[in-house]
Amino acid sequence: MKILVTGGAGYIGSHTAVELLKAGYEITIVDNLSNSSIDVIDSIKEITNKDFNFYELDVKDEDKLNEVFVKENIEAVIHFAAFKAVGESVEKPLKYYENNLENTISLLKVMQKNNIKKIIFSSSACVYGDPEELPIKETAKLTTTNPYGATKHMIERILKDVYKAETDLSVIILRYFNPIGSDSSYKIGENPKGIPNNLMPFIVRVANREIDHLNIFGDDYDTKDGTGVRDYIHVTDLAIGHIKALEKANKDIGIFVYNLGTGTGYSVLEMVKTFEKVNNVKVPYEITKRRDGDIAACYADPSLAKEELGWVATKTLEDMCYDSYQYIINRK
Ligand code: UD1
Repeated sequence: MKILVTGGAGYIGSHTAVELLKAGYEITIVDNLSNSSIDVIDSIKEITNKDFNFYELDVKDEDKLNEVFVKENIEAVIHFAAFKAVGESVEKPLKYYENNLENTISLLKVMQKNNIKKIIFSSSACVYGDPEELPIKETAKLTTTNPYGATKHMIERILKDVYKAETDLSVIILRYFNPIGSDSSYKIGENPKGIPNNLMPFIVRVANREIDHLNIFGDDYDTKDGTGVRDYIHVTDLAIGHIKALEKANKDIGIFVYNLGTGTGYSVLEMVKTFEKVNNVKVPYEITKRRDGDIAACYADPSLAKEELGWVATKTLEDMCYDSYQYIINRK
């Protein structure tokens, strides 16, 4: 079966591409390389020893995208391509609404034109805002606090409306918690340009002495040790979640939403301590004030994905910390 992976050169997209190829699927990747590099495409081929076509294009370009669908005989789509920096989305909201919404609409139109009925969409736990109840179930109230999150929420809504109008579709929305780690080859991983915003990319740079210390944003939250609690999930577990979602889409028509998380929350201090122990390094830190827009705690109830997809996260926090660091120290 031939799968189109949009944004397949990105962090989660590239790991999913590897798992798809390992599972025997054929793939085609489209990516505009706006936040990734062509080397990732070569690395995916190296890791899997499999070949596929890559097109450097913007999903918003309907004509070019249509050519890819026709030429490649695409049968299903996994849609990752999006801008994802929360802070930037607050400063440049139109850039985010334009890119994330337009490229999804363009993709859905091209799918319609080519009679393609299966799509898996990369959503985020940020659609839950500051959750009223923990662990978070898929039925929780949706609310977002920044333009990036709003685009994910709006796209979920668009998909629901498209499904209502075209009821023979299989639409699977995956809400990711906090992906970290790297493929065990350490040839692909998370490598943001500039100073990282997210916790794990920041920790690895401090450990690698590229940045002198970590700022921990607040230790006065109502959590186990006062620091923020999140559901960190290994990116390979997350990638495998997409394979399970594809199996579901091949079997059932409908629109389905699943949390992809481990169900366990870890605090920032627990992350730092585990990272130091597993990698035998020091991560100096200072406690600073809370970051605007942050919430105290967020972790999934992943039981629906287990029941309906047969998916559970298998990697431990130690695996995640080890793999995140190995990728950075092995990177070319
Ligand atoms: C962020 C995004 C979210 C996205 C998720 C996964 C924001 C507001 N939200 O969530 O939309 O889905 O990443 O990519 O950016 N922390 C520090 N020091 C740091 C960095 C982070 O103490 O230098 C703390 C944070 O306060 C938080 C935890 O670490 O408690 C995790 O932060 P981060 O990795 O940025 O993820 P989220 O805020 O959960």
